[in-house]
Amino acid sequence: HPPIRTICCIGAGYVGGPTMAVIADRCPGIQVTVVDLNAERIAAWNDPDLGRLPVYEPGLDAVVGRARGRNLHFSTEVDAAIAAADMVFLSVNTPTKTKGVGAGQASDLRWIEASARQVAASARGHTIVVEKSTLPVRTAETVKAILGAAQQNRPEGDRRQAKTFAVLSNPEFLAEGTAIADLEAPDRVLIGGEDPAAIESLAGIYGTWVPQDRILRTNLWSSELSKLTANAYLAQRISSINSIAALCEATGADVREVGRAIGTDSRIGSKFLQAGPGFGGSCFQKDILNLVYLCRHYGLEEVAGYWEQVVTLNTWQQDRIARLVVQRLFGTVTGKRLAVLGFAFKADTNDTREAPAIRICQDLIEEGARLVIVDPKVSAAQIAEDLGQPSSPADGGWQTAGSPLEAASGADAILILTEWRDYARLDWGAIAAQMRRPAWLFDARAIADAAAARAAGLNVWRVGEG
Ligand code: NAD
Ligand code: UDX
Repeated sequence: HPPIRTICCIGAGYVGGPTMAVIADRCPGIQVTVVDLNAERIAAWNDPDLGRLPVYEPGLDAVVGRARGRNLHFSTEVDAAIAAADMVFLSVNTPTKTKGVGAGQASDLRWIEASARQVAASARGHTIVVEKSTLPVRTAETVKAILGAAQQNRPEGDRRQAKTFAVLSNPEFLAEGTAIADLEAPDRVLIGGEDPAAIESLAGIYGTWVPQDRILRTNLWSSELSKLTANAYLAQRISSINSIAALCEATGADVREVGRAIGTDSRIGSKFLQAGPGFGGSCFQKDILNLVYLCRHYGLEEVAGYWEQVVTLNTWQQDRIARLVVQRLFGTVTGKRLAVLGFAFKADTNDTREAPAIRICQDLIEEGARLVIVDPKVSAAQIAEDLGQPSSPADGGWQTAGSPLEAASGADAILILTEWRDYARLDWGAIAAQMRRPAWLFDARAIADAAAARAAGLNVWRVGEG
């Protein structure tokens, strides 16, 4: 297997950007070009100010700073980058379909198909095509069919235009907020394929910094399905602990104590047992719904229903929190100022896709609350887009504030929706002094110092605390 000298990655998003930055950083001999149709996004990746990259990830600025301009490039010239590449990663978005067959469940594969067609048209010589996006099992069949048509289309005997392809599946397991650490020291790298030389070419790249025993090789379909399964298992753990949190609240148990007790069982393990406002992020819901759709497609109704329940419980958890805020505030929040701390779907990211804060804020806005939202990394423009309405101080409106203290001024309640570390160290004496009494803290992440908040005179609700 000839060594890879040039890589093109189609899609400069949360996966393509950080993943290629780490490959370029670790493999200075490989030229890596990340391309995207979105010119604004590419310009942001090229911004001389590393504080303005389009993706916020701890450590990403340093990695990009070392490699950019040396062997890491960001460009909108998709065709030229494909033509020059020995290996092309498809790292485009695969959101849930909103219309047509499978709407609301199946993955929308239009961007994968478009990028595969672009590779078919622009590739030169032998090209290894790597599925990096999360895809329904058997998508590689579609990719191969599109690339195969390009192989057949070339004029008879024209050897200069000879194109050959190998297709691999290499799903990404990074979590946002820890992307760089996850990429630099992954639990495993998974490579699915049929062509041993192509598999070893890709394994050789990862092998530069990942120990060989962590590079798993398998067939295409197992690789594609493993990604959906991993996310389904992880999301299932969150719905499981959130369901127990509700039972704890009803019975006087504490979900953190229950989590500690079950987490010490090595078969269960202690990670991913944090009750919260429900999972968010661009992956879990989309990937489970995709799994549900696939199960139904193959006639496995009971299996589909089993996984569907994970999403049902998650939506219920988000609604439940908005409802209980209204109930505790004497049944009405109309005209009340509520400080919302955290809008991102988890800490250490600027990503708000499927953030539980969106549904919870929308429900409270619907009830007539005046929300004051604070998040260290999410812009007001992003919040406006997610909530579907511009900022306004009116009842049933929202605005932003620069700090938790400012947001709390005159507020009846504080809601913590993202576990930003700073929210564990808030000065409850100073905050409580600014609020209207009786005042509440609703801590959906159980991160705040509840004893200090109670000592400052607040009524405190914490997720999972009976
Ligand atoms: P994203 O939306 O942040 O980025 C995708 C990018 O692809 C966009 O910038 C879009 O403009 C670009 N694009 C789409 N079609 C294109 C085309 N034909 N040519 C050039 N550019 C094109 O998405 P993401 O979060 O990076 O996710 C990408 C894939 O990785 C998805 O399948 C997702 O499920 C999977 N994934 C995501 C995560 C995560 O944490 N976000 C983790 C693992 C896997
Ligand atoms: C997830 C998978 O972890 C990752 O492997 C995959 O590649 C992409 O999807 P991500 O969505 O970025 O990563 O973050 P993750 O840490 O999994 O958190 C997802 C959601 O679950 C967040 O809203 C988070 O707050 C929530 N969560 C996580 C909990 O509520 N409790 C937990 O114990 C863990």
